[in-house]
Formats: sequence, structure tokens, C-alpha cells
Amino acid sequence: MISRETIDEVKSRVDIVDVVGDFVTLKRSGQNYKALSPFTNEKTASFYVVPSKGIFKDFSSGKGGDGITFVMEHEGMSYVEAIRYLAKKFGIAIKEEESLESTTQQSERDSLYILMNYAKDYYKSSLFEMDEGRSVGLSYFHERGFNDRIIEKFELGYSINEWDHFSKKALQDGYSLEMLEKAGLVIKKEKEKPDSFRIYDRFRGRVIFPVHGIAGKVIAFGARILTKEKDQPKYINSPETEIYHKSNVLYGMFQAKNAIRREDFCYLVEGYTDVISMHLADVDNVVASSGTALTEEQIKLIRRFTENVTVLFDGDAAGIKAAIRGIDLVLKGGLNVRIVLLPDAEDPDSYSKKMGSSDFKKYLIGHTKDFISFKIDLYAKDSAHDPIKKAEAIRDIVTSISLIPDPIKRSVYIQETSQLLKIQESVLLSELNKIVIGDRRKRAEDQSREDRKKTDSAPLIEEITHSKTDINAIVRLQERESMRLLLNYAESHYDDQRLLDFMLTELEDVDFTDPIYKEIYEAFRSGAARGEALDTLYFMEHGSAEVKQAVADLTTSRYETSKHWNDKYHIHFLHEREMIHDLAYSNVLRLKFRLVQKLTEDNLAQMKLATNDEDLEKYFTIHEQLKGAEKDLANLLGIVVPK
Ligand code: CTP
Ligand code: MN
Repeated sequence: MISRETIDEVKSRVDIVDVVGDFVTLKRSGQNYKALSPFTNEKTASFYVVPSKGIFKDFSSGKGGDGITFVMEHEGMSYVEAIRYLAKKFGIAIKEEESLESTTQQSERDSLYILMNYAKDYYKSSLFEMDEGRSVGLSYFHERGFNDRIIEKFELGYSINEWDHFSKKALQDGYSLEMLEKAGLVIKKEKEKPDSFRIYDRFRGRVIFPVHGIAGKVIAFGARILTKEKDQPKYINSPETEIYHKSNVLYGMFQAKNAIRREDFCYLVEGYTDVISMHLADVDNVVASSGTALTEEQIKLIRRFTENVTVLFDGDAAGIKAAIRGIDLVLKGGLNVRIVLLPDAEDPDSYSKKMGSSDFKKYLIGHTKDFISFKIDLYAKDSAHDPIKKAEAIRDIVTSISLIPDPIKRSVYIQETSQLLKIQESVLLSELNKIVIGDRRKRAEDQSREDRKKTDSAPLIEEITHSKTDINAIVRLQERESMRLLLNYAESHYDDQRLLDFMLTELEDVDFTDPIYKEIYEAFRSGAARGEALDTLYFMEHGSAEVKQAVADLTTSRYETSKHWNDKYHIHFLHEREMIHDLAYSNVLRLKFRLVQKLTEDNLAQMKLATNDEDLEKYFTIHEQLKGAEKDLANLLGIVVPK
């Protein structure tokens, strides 16, 4: 625990220009500074530093805050790490909190870091400087095509094949047996005689893959066997320690983080050698889950650098299974997911070697699919003429979509699925809502109100504010949905009024972007003013050719699949009329949400042209207000629709 005093001192001494200037080339602009955003690939500068307020604001990614926030965002550090970093930079002595427990804990962590670093150096020098290391370890790596540059980059090593070669050396150099055990480097076995024991090097006779924390310190090791002994595990890994929590760590993140930020996506592979082979093939934005299912913490870690994950798995049955599981986990974490399947029986290691770097890279790009196409292709083989299989496929895809926390992204994916599978959007939406509402109900039963608030709205806000989905496409989609609702259900009840009245009141300040939808909407509005209830027939008589076409599209069901399935296969889809209230409510919110985003974009465009500080301040204020409104709407969109 760093003392409050130190934190306050860091805060008061931090010079935002100096802090940011270490990572970004700042240009003076009046009393402020401007630069290209270090978080995106923008072409015109929209990253500002305001020294008078001690803040930065990046309008292209939405990030902003003080010097501490900047270091956290840019370097992927935790709050405490950022404070330590800044204290060091500004020469401030860190005072730890008086609590005895926390100081011993901190010093234990420090000792573990020092010891792990010592062990890493030992394994490295064994690999390069000892005969056994060179003839066994190094030649193994070379055989696998690892060159010395890559061996150095990942700090690979070798552990001599003797019971206690490492422990003897470490004890000699003054490390305590207790720490060696705590670090998981050494195993102590009691013998039959009282008070006598033996110690063993945990990783003896294996090549060593150090696992680095986000700041580059070694926190654990994976050790691969070189022989084919059947009763030995292929890898032995460090146990959990004070500094190593497996579920918070992704192998390769330290070596990949800059490339991930640059490329704005990261490949997710299975293991140590996959990561290294990808680097050998010149693909640096890659991390591994190390053979286990991805955890929530690991997804959060990725999200510090990008929102986009491409899972890369073997094309065999096990690989496909792992890919499917991976997809849902990533979606649930609010990240966008794509998939590359390698040919049967190949892994990134074997395939990159077979193809060579440039063809391998081409393969990756050419075979990247979004998760919906991936799942559709997966089912395509056996579902083309089998409605039950097709229903299963739809259900499976919609279930994956239901995991996405951002409702706007969900609707974009629903639209895509609708087009690809030729299924009416409303059928998919009903199915989706059934799952989402069912899930919420279940959660609501399980959890207290407080908990629900946390899990429901928190990730959603962040997701939407950082969403990079094409706003224009979403807008059209929502406008189309408004028109569809009006055309089909204008006279339905919405609480104690008509749906028509609800929509007209709520959409009063919305300016439709699509001219056709605008025309339809205006007709409804003036119709209502005259006291007339418009229906499809009205538009067929009075509308232009385009309007007639649009109205026809929006009011006829192109596919009768759902009814058919309902009768024949007892697959129940909620009838749309039953959920009209929810549909209209969220549609209205989404349109407003879009309006706010459009205003934000307009304001940003203005801001880029600002020539003096006064104007700039004004646009900052407007921006903050709009962001507040956006958050409120996002909040409303994320919670259970009130009945
Ligand atoms: N793994 C593990 N313990 C094992 C087997 C596997 O921790 N006994 C983890 C490792 O992180 C490994 C990953 O699962 O990297 C994937 O396993 P595998 O494909 O068997 O290993 P590779 O790293 O691909 O090794 P190689 O290329 O030498 O087969
Ligand atoms: Mn493998």
C-alpha cells in the first residue's frame, strides 16, 4: 500500500506535458498542446493536452484524464504501477502505509521479482554458456527454427538436468530455501528420517519459457520436456504465487502490446510455441491463453490495448471446439471476435513454417472470418436441407449474439445474420430477446439489485462509448426499424396511448437521414395532425415508387419459416406483437443515442477548426455534456425495459 501522502505528492508534482511528452510528440497550440492520438491511427490531430488543468483529452478514442490516467491507459499499468512509475520519474520517495501486513506482503513481492529475475538469468546463461545447455537446449531451439534474436526477445533458457544444480547455485548466492520454494522454483520433499529432506529443481532438464508481466518483469516459467517420456507432462508451469495469478496473465502480452495497439487487434493462440512462431513469421500482435479457457481478467487485459480479437486455432475437431468456446468468452467480454481456422492437423507453428512468413500472413488475412460466417459455414455442411439443423444453427448463432453486452452491436449482428441466413430480422430479434430477457430474469432472481446494476450497466457504457461500429449503418438500421414499427403497429397500444403517439412525441427532435424514411415519417406526422390514421394502403395510393417499395418491404414477411417451424418442430418464437412495447422503447432510445453521437461528431469537427483557447474551452464543455447524455442513454438501453 502506497501512502496517501505519496499519492497526493505525485498528483501535485506531475507535469502533464512532461508525462505525455515521453510518449507523444506534442505541438504547441495556444496555451495547450495538440498531437496525433497515440491510441488510434488518426490522420488529423485530435489529442489535446491542457496544462492549466493538468489533463489530456483524446477525442478520437474518447480517453481522457490526468497524468496518472495517461500512464495507465498508454502503458497498460494499474493505478499503483502508474503511481510508482510517476514517483520515480519525478524523484518522489515512496512512503508505504504503516500497516505491517501490507509492508511484509510488498517486500515479499519484491523479493519474488528479484528471485524470478535471477532464475531467468541463470536459465539464459545455462542455455548459452554451459555445454549441456548448448548441446541440448540451444540445439533443440535451433532445430525448431528459433533464431537467437527470437530466443533473446523471449528470454528463453534451459535448466540443467541435475536434481539441484539451480538450487545449489541460488542458495550459494544467498537466496533462502523458503523463498525458492515460495517462488515455485524448488520442490522440497520430506524423507522418512525426521527433519531430513531433499530439494529438487522443479524445471530440471527442460527448456524454459519465461512468462513476463505487462511491464516486462518475469513472473513465472513454463518448461518444456525434450524427451518423449510418456509419464511426464509436456510442460511444467510455475504454481500460483504472490506475483503470478495465471488467470490474469496472457503469454506474450509484454512482447505484443505495442503491435496490438498499432494493428488494433490481437491474435489469440493456444501456447508458448505458437506465439513465438508467429513472431518468427513477423506477426507480433499475438498472445496465448496457455492451453486453458480464456478468463474474464485476461479479456480485460486485452481490452487495455484493443477491442478486437482474432482467435487462431487448429482446423481439427479439438481446435474447432476450442474456437467455439473462445468465441463466446470473447463476445461476453464485450470484444469483437474474428476467427481463422488453420488446415486440418496444422497449428500456427507447423503451418507458418510450411508456408513461410509472407504466404502465412496472406493466409491469415485471407481466411479471417467474422464469427457469424464462421458458425454458418460450420453448420452449412449438414444443415442446408435439414430444417432442424438449420434451426439449431440459428439458435446457436443468436445465443452467441445474446452474449454481446452492447445492444447496438447486437442489432448489427442480427441484421447480418438475417441477410446471410435469409431469415426475417424480427424472427431473430424475438429469439434474441427471449434469450436476453430469460437470462436477465434468471440473473435477477440470483442476484441482488445492487449486483445487477454493476454487471448490467458498467461494461455497457464503456463498450458503447468506445464502439467503432459504423454509425451510419446503425442509424439507417434504427430508422428502418422505426418505420417498420410504425407501419405495422401504429394503432397498437403503448401504455395508455397509441404506439403512433408515443413514437411521434419521442422522435420530435430526430432528423431522419434516409430521405425515404423521412418521407414516410413526415406523412405519419401530418396524418396524425389531420387526425388520420395512415396504413399501408395510404402509401400505396400516395407514395412515390421508392416509398411504395420500402413500405412493401417493411410490411410483408418474406420468410414464413418461423410459423412453419412452430407448427412442425415445436420451436417456439415469441410473437412480435407481444414485445412491441420493448421494441418501440429501445428503438426510440437508439435513435436518440445516434442523434447525440452525430452532434458529438459535428462538435469535434468544429473543435478541430478552433483557433483560440476560448472556443476550445466551449467545445470541450459541449463535448462533456454530450458524452454525459450519451452515457445516460446507454444506461437506459442497457437496463431491463420498464413495463
Ligand atoms: N500446456 C501446459 N501443460 C501441458 C500441456 C500444454 O501448460 N502439459 C499449455 C502450454 O501453455 C502450451 C499450450 O498448453 O504451450 C498448448 O499445448 P501444446 O499445443 O501441447 O504445446 P505447444 O506449445 O504447441 O508445444 P509444441 O509446439 O512443442 O507441441
Ligand atoms: Mn501446439
